[in-house]
Amino acid sequence: MIRILTIVGARPQFIKAAMISRAIVEHNRRGENPTVVEEIIHTGQHYDANMSDIFFQQMQIPEPVVNLQAGTGMHGEMTGRMLAQIEKEIVNRNPEWVLVYGDTNSTLAGALAAAKLHVPVAHVEAGLRSFNKCMPEEINRILTDHVSSLLFCPTQAAVDSLSREGITRGVHHVGDVMYDAAQIFVKIAGHTSTILRDLNLTPGEYYLATVHRAENTDDPDRLRNILTALNALEGPVILPLHPRTRKILQGFFPSLLTPHSSQGTPHSSLHIVDPVSFLDMVELEKNARTILTDSGGVQKEAYFHGVPCVTLREETEWVETVQAGWNQVVGADPEKIVVAVRRGLTGKSIAEYGQGNASADVLKLICSATASL
Ligand code: UD1
Ligand code: UDP
Repeated sequence: MIRILTIVGARPQFIKAAMISRAIVEHNRRGENPTVVEEIIHTGQHYDANMSDIFFQQMQIPEPVVNLQAGTGMHGEMTGRMLAQIEKEIVNRNPEWVLVYGDTNSTLAGALAAAKLHVPVAHVEAGLRSFNKCMPEEINRILTDHVSSLLFCPTQAAVDSLSREGITRGVHHVGDVMYDAAQIFVKIAGHTSTILRDLNLTPGEYYLATVHRAENTDDPDRLRNILTALNALEGPVILPLHPRTRKILQGFFPSLLTPHSSQGTPHSSLHIVDPVSFLDMVELEKNARTILTDSGGVQKEAYFHGVPCVTLREETEWVETVQAGWNQVVGADPEKIVVAVRRGLTGKSIAEYGQGNASADVLKLICSATASL
């Protein structure tokens, strides 16, 4: 038997973890050896129902054994609180592996707590780099990768980045578990989501935008520029608003959050809605004319669903989406954003995200590595 302690806390981690949990259920259902027992710890980093519970329900993620409710405060405070609590959980539960995802404070806390207790860390979405250490995620990624024993890379660029940092042992290019998720949930969304009808949208005739990255939300000029650009687009722009961005808008641009802003002047293009479920998001992505985003996950999902992407950042970790011609990285300049949207793009396919088996491969590799622990 292998015991895996999974640490999650933020929206994109629920989606990634859902795929490995499904692989574990399938592995056990088939009676494959060894049996895998997964326990999930939710750090509580994201806590609103539409940022957390909805993903557990919709994606049938096993219920966490504990919620640490450590989701507020500055980075050090939040990470420190998680670290202390996760350490206790690892000691009590004594897993063979601690499994972490992505690059959030929850990722780093889980990885650090495990490494200090000499419990091996498996990192899904290892090796991504923006080469911008002002991003909190970049610090989290680098530190997590350097204490991980198994590093599951979604792309060859990620493998190469690890190699440049001297990390070659335990590195596996498995593809992207988010691609697995897109494959499965796009079909379900097509049957079940009513979001297009609910928002009165016609496929191919609206834009979808997300904005939550600290570099955009914490700089009022950048945020204003992005909103100006979104508002200059012809056609509705659906903006499912991350709570971080909502809090900032309440302070700087409260008029945008008034009900009239979704119906007409003075913000005619922009339709601000609450964060949506994954199934609704997939449906919105698939049918959008163009996606504008500063999200890592959403950039790739644009490609998965064959929709051009305009990235509202200065750099991207997902360089292959740019190289393949699906993604334009334009920053926060309103003119550049509008020009990029009008230019549109279609590109080549990207083989390195895999064939939809990344989650199963991750599990197989964890099982075989356990034999040599
Ligand atoms: C975090 C991750 C980021 C990831 C994003 C996914 C870090 C450093 N950042 O950013 O890498 O892309 O999650 O969405 O880990 N809030 C709520 N309700 C919630 C969740 C958050 O009100 O359910 C508020 C928090 O109280 C805080 C703000 O949103 O004021 C930001 O939350 P936080 O988890 O610190 O960072 P994110 O911007 O969500
Ligand atoms: N997402 C969602 N509902 C939303 C916005 C995003 O389900 O209202 C999904 C999106 O499809 C993607 C993931 O959340 O799978 C991305 O999370 P986020 O942008 O918060 O984080 P990042 O990927 O940038 O770390």
